[in-house]
Order: sequence, then C-alpha cells, then structure tokens
Amino acid sequence: VPAPVICIDGPTASGKGTVASLVAQRLGFALLDSGALYRIAGLAATRAGIPLEAAHAQQIADLVATLHIVFTPDQRVLLGAEDISLAIRTEAAGMNASRVSAFPAVRQALLQLQRDFRRLPGLVADGRDMGTVIFPDAALKVYLSASAQCRAERRFKQLIDKGLSANIADLLADLQARDARDMQRSAAPLKPAEDALHWDNHAERTIEQAVQQVLAWWEQRQ
Ligand code: C5P
Repeated sequence: VPAPVICIDGPTASGKGTVASLVAQRLGFALLDSGALYRIAGLAATRAGIPLEAAHAQQIADLVATLHIVFTPDQRVLLGAEDISLAIRTEAAGMNASRVSAFPAVRQALLQLQRDFRRLPGLVADGRDMGTVIFPDAALKVYLSASAQCRAERRFKQLIDKGLSANIADLLADLQARDARDMQRSAAPLKPAEDALHWDNHAERTIEQAVQQVLAWWEQRQ
C-alpha cells in the first residue's frame, strides 16, 4: 500500500503553505512544498541567463533536471551547497516561478521528483496541481482559497512583520496576475480536484481553524 497523501491546493497567499506545514508536523508526515520547486526553477533559469519564454522551455527543463535540491528538516532549501531559502521567497521569485511553471516541459521535469516525496507514514503536499495531477489517488484533497483582497492583505501583513516595505495595491495586482496565469494555462491549471473538500480561509478565520478542519477531515477518512 503506498503511503497516504493529503493534498492542499489553492491560489497564492491563501495560507496553504502554513496550513500544510502545521498539518504535516502534527501528523508526523513528510512535507512537499511544490511551489518551492518552481521558484527554484525560475531562480536557476534567471541566474543562467535563460529568458523565461516558451521558446526556451526545453532549455529550462534540461537545466532543472540537473539541479541538486535539498529540503532540510529545519525547512531550509538548498540548491547545491547554497541556502536559497530567502532568495526564492521574494515577490519577483514568485512571479518567475509562475512564468516557468506554465511550460509543460518544466512541469514534466519536476513530476517524478515530486512523487518521490511520498513516504511512510504519509505526505502533505502543497501546491496547485497536487490533487489533480501529481497525486490523483490522494486520500484527502483540500482546496484552500480566500478572496484576492483578503490574500493581498495577508501578504501585506507578512511582509510588514518581516520589516519589509509593501503596498497593498501592488500586491493585489501581482497576485491577480499570478492567479490569472495559474488558472488560464493549459498545463495543469490551478483548479480544485473534483473530489476536493473546500475551505474558505477568509479574514475572520485563523490558520489554526484551517489546520483543525483538515485534521478533522483526515480523521473521518481513517
Ligand atoms: O505556492 P507558491 O507561491 O510558492 O508557487 C509559486 C508559483 O509556482 C505559483 O504561482 C505557480 O505558478 C507555480 N506552481 C505550480 N504548481 C504547483 C506549485 C506552484 O504551477 N504545484
């Protein structure tokens, strides 16, 4: 029997990364942050001077296949020997990730790598197509969303808390551009799996409520 998988998909800044990481921690499951892989692909291609355009998709995919990526137990991300945890978290890195993630060759290059995260006692996988493409047989699929305004405000607060400057209008525009690209692309577009359970992570709800709901759904499946 393959290890059970809990998929948590949804748009950017919906809180799914935090929810996925807490659920994984509480269950003692492994964690796959698939967005980080696309962020690394965007970073590596940019550093190699490859234009993030469809005409260069195969070149980016070939580069991706050579990368040595490690997620450490303390949730840092290494590319070779370099700690790129911070470099991949910028808004620009998110936008570059969204661009390279639209290329089927790049998605293909990351497919097996993602499936290799599956291990006992289980895996929590966070992304856009975890339930639709990567783990269609997942035991539980959750689609976590929130309005664009709410997500922009959350992202704003996170940046300010980190001591960075930010502007809600810019964040909202960025996030809507990213949503549009992620939902409209033909390769694995962002959409809920047919058998996904939905959670609206709106402003009055806390991360802990989302975590409790996912854990309750998981219990019901046992
Ligand atoms: O989740 P995160 O914001 O880190 O993802 C960055 C970008 O990577 C997303 O905007 C999306 O375009 C892409 N992505 C994807 N499929 C996934 C995870 C992320 O296309 N499973």
